Amino acid sequence: MSDPSAAQNSVRSSVLRRSFRKTFPSAVRGEAVYVWDTEGKRYLDFSGSAAVNLIGHGVPEITAAMTEQAVQLEFVHTSHFTTPVAEGYARELLDFAGENFRGGAVYFTCGGSESVETALKLARQYQVEIGQTKRYQILSRSQSYHGSTLGALAVSGNKRRREIYLPMVREFAHIGIPYCYRCNYDCTDGCRNCGQEYAAELERAIESANGEAAGFIFEPVSGATLGAVVPPPGYLQKVAEVCRRHGVLLIADEVMTGMGRTGRNFAVEHWDIAPDIVIAAKGLSSGYAPLGAVIATKKIIDGLASGSFLHGFTYNAHPISLATGRAVLHRLQQQKLVQAADSGRERTAAAKLQRALSTLFDLETVGEVRGIGLLRGVEFVSDKHSKRPFAPELNFAGRVTTAALQRGLLVYPIQGCVDGVSGDHLLIAPPAVITEDQIDWAVDQLKNSIEEAPE
Ligand SMILES: Cc1ncc(COP(=O)(O)O)c(C=O)c1O
Repeated sequence: MSDPSAAQNSVRSSVLRRSFRKTFPSAVRGEAVYVWDTEGKRYLDFSGSAAVNLIGHGVPEITAAMTEQAVQLEFVHTSHFTTPVAEGYARELLDFAGENFRGGAVYFTCGGSESVETALKLARQYQVEIGQTKRYQILSRSQSYHGSTLGALAVSGNKRRREIYLPMVREFAHIGIPYCYRCNYDCTDGCRNCGQEYAAELERAIESANGEAAGFIFEPVSGATLGAVVPPPGYLQKVAEVCRRHGVLLIADEVMTGMGRTGRNFAVEHWDIAPDIVIAAKGLSSGYAPLGAVIATKKIIDGLASGSFLHGFTYNAHPISLATGRAVLHRLQQQKLVQAADSGRERTAAAKLQRALSTLFDLETVGEVRGIGLLRGVEFVSDKHSKRPFAPELNFAGRVTTAALQRGLLVYPIQGCVDGVSGDHLLIAPPAVITEDQIDWAVDQLKNSIEEAPE
């Protein structure tokens, strides 16, 4: 429902903003975990923008690398040239992605959605070139998020963001997604079995696709739509096995979870699975420049026997973005930030965050606190026992976020985790350089904001 009084209050902007009904502070500076606005107000970035920033704001080494590249060479088109920064960075990224990607190759884009589009087309072209011309469908999961462009939207399950565009997209099967707090199956055995049930849904969907399934795209840890939901034991291993057996490419969308966010270089390493394609963005550049990457195994690249990839963007492999990403990679390796994001290690920022956030569960309106590493979700309920969500119109997560913003704390609110419309949660994903004191302060502010929200 629109709120005309709010519309009158907001200043009309020449920027087509995300919302015309909301007034936004104007940001001017960032340093470590903090961002400042034009009024001089300081905000602690407890969500790393939107799970973007891992290395902290305002790192001079990154801006120096950007400047150096810009001074040397700002841009060339990939139909004319490759560049030293592209070649060097791609090699380093393949190493970072691990043994599974030895001999593979990286396609660079300007962000997550572009990378998802690229991965879908790469999967199709690979299948065609190995003689599997019938295969074109990309299977995915309900309640997932893979981006805003129409191809990415087609494989996403985020109801709110898709609904009005549905007549414009070509859809394939969406299977159920493990969400053990509200499981469709029986989780009384500690989730031993539900993962197998969800994986069986994939197998049935592949069989129903009648030999036309080209790939299956998934977020190893469900990011925006469900809010840091970690899969049950055995699920991803079974999914990988099903895909392999049916000749369906396994595409891990690690836009949110990759580049150290969960305490591994890529989240799939937690479950020891080997995707054919991994997609990265967000943490890849920590937000310092628009950047995404599609990392493909040797099998995929060898499969492109025609010798070209029928795809391209003017700005793919942009030298300044690549110099930025490369400097970010060096920074996170030098500062051991993947280790800092590992909640399984003692005395890390992630372990501290997990402990501190678990205290939110004492609040009446907090139904679950979940996640892994530095990717955490807080789900709100109006009744803890029945797990009944708040009415969507109340916009509970939005209210918490507004209260937190007033207190100088940035969190990322999302609605729809229950059924695509109802269900409120927050995503918490701070930079890995956050200190224990900063975590304590942030969680205190968040507690107060949650308590203030219903009023
Ligand atoms: C898992 C996942 N894939 C894709 C995207 C789209 O990325 P972008 O917003 O950079 O286009 C997102 C963004 O939140 C995401 O979380």
